[in-house]
Amino acid sequence: MPEIQPSISRQELLCGETPGRPCGMVVFGASGDLTRRKLLASLFELQKRQLLAEEFYFVGCGRTELSDDEFRKIAAESISDKGIPPEKTSAFLDKFYFVSGSYDDPAFYETIGDRLARLDCLHATGGCHIFYLAVPPGLYGAIAEQLGKAKLSCRGMPECEERARLVIEKPFGRDLKSAIALNDQIQQYFEERQIYRIDHYLGKETVQNILMFRFANAIFEPIWNRNYVDHVQITIAESLGVEHRAGYYDKSGALRDMFQNHMLGMLSLVAMEPPASFDADAIRDEKVKLLKSVRPLEVKPYDRRIVTGQYAAGDVDGGPVCGYREEENIPAESMTETYAAARVFVDNWRWKGIPFYLRTGKRLAKRVTDIAIVFKTVPHSMFAGIGLDDMPANVLVLKIQPNEGINLSFQAKRPGSKTCMSTLTLNFNYADVFGTDAPEAYERLLLDCMVGDQTLFTRQDDVQVAWALIQPVLDNFAAGTLIPFEYPAGAESFPQADALIEGDGRKWRPLSQS
Ligand code: BG6
Repeated sequence: MPEIQPSISRQELLCGETPGRPCGMVVFGASGDLTRRKLLASLFELQKRQLLAEEFYFVGCGRTELSDDEFRKIAAESISDKGIPPEKTSAFLDKFYFVSGSYDDPAFYETIGDRLARLDCLHATGGCHIFYLAVPPGLYGAIAEQLGKAKLSCRGMPECEERARLVIEKPFGRDLKSAIALNDQIQQYFEERQIYRIDHYLGKETVQNILMFRFANAIFEPIWNRNYVDHVQITIAESLGVEHRAGYYDKSGALRDMFQNHMLGMLSLVAMEPPASFDADAIRDEKVKLLKSVRPLEVKPYDRRIVTGQYAAGDVDGGPVCGYREEENIPAESMTETYAAARVFVDNWRWKGIPFYLRTGKRLAKRVTDIAIVFKTVPHSMFAGIGLDDMPANVLVLKIQPNEGINLSFQAKRPGSKTCMSTLTLNFNYADVFGTDAPEAYERLLLDCMVGDQTLFTRQDDVQVAWALIQPVLDNFAAGTLIPFEYPAGAESFPQADALIEGDGRKWRPLSQS
């Protein structure tokens, strides 16, 4: 009888990537920061990994007057630190073009349409267009509308609809009402299946791993529920401050910037029910179902489930840094929150009564994103002299970034006396095991968009239910009934944030432990 053995080569086969289909990528806001820092570098990586179709071109669109050559120079500069020899980049850069114009001018879109028609012929792309909005959010609706009016969205034209896609950066709206209005505007011109709403956290390798870890192993799912889990902590801590994004950030704050999207996205992946298949809609249905089970985040004085903060001057990485209100272009009286923490309950069969503690903040002691599943402690100690306090709960930590990996802590016998016990950690580190850094999230997302896979993109109902969840908190903020507490830059936490979890007899995991 031939022996059947799992072989690495079989697993290697599963790692095959589908290369991007022929297309023209049209980026609005092409001379901006996102294009330079993320999109161009990711495209070059895809090109290096031979995942970009030969039949590909890139059209930058923007208000700045730039010739194709000037734009190619900018593109070349933005990847100059990637160590790619110029001879390798120049052939690729020859596929880069630029069209200047004003976003509200119909003539701009006619020019773009003419240019695309010519480039489609030249590069034999078959007329597939990805329109990427890397512009300030206030322009999303207007650009989508102009694309539609110029017939570039192909809506209602079966022969080309599948080939036109719209990629939209976050934030999608700034509250529930504006998200619905924006969607209504966009959906007059693009079908939902053409719309790719980006939440770049979903493109991170370690965030994608949440589903594989949960549903490709038999041992975790049976204990992934209220019977075994005491609570869950999700942390997105940043040591950076607002940097050069004052204009955007001061109108957003941590709730809109991180909570409504990245944080709730991770919560839904970690808590959702198993989908029947690894199919875009099957997964997105479960995510939405989960968010719909989250108890509304009401701000009640007697049951504080939300705490916000704003950083004051302090020390980060050994150096002094200014407070949020002293940052360039931030109003001196700004009440914008740079920190938000919440105690969230998922009212369904699996999670009833189990708190999920979520926190995110800028200018904290350390940059770390992780998800800690804290299990219940043992019910009884049979070891003489060892109390329940000596046997801390098992904690499974999904280390999203940096130092991507997974840790599981447990108790074990230490060499020595019969009752000598230690808490140990099983540690898996991506870089050690796979010998490579996790690829940039945008590589995954751009490739998926070229392939037409919407799994890692946020569907409209998901966006809406996430806004609906935090809307009561935003309303409290607007009414001045929720005021951010001050915390010193570089802090691990602060007393009011601690009180949120300590009131339940639990503690935040120290950032340094991640
Ligand atoms: C962005 C936010 O979506 O995510 C930023 O707008 C934040 O404020 C950033 O700094 C964090 O992303 P990452 O990938 O560095 O964790």
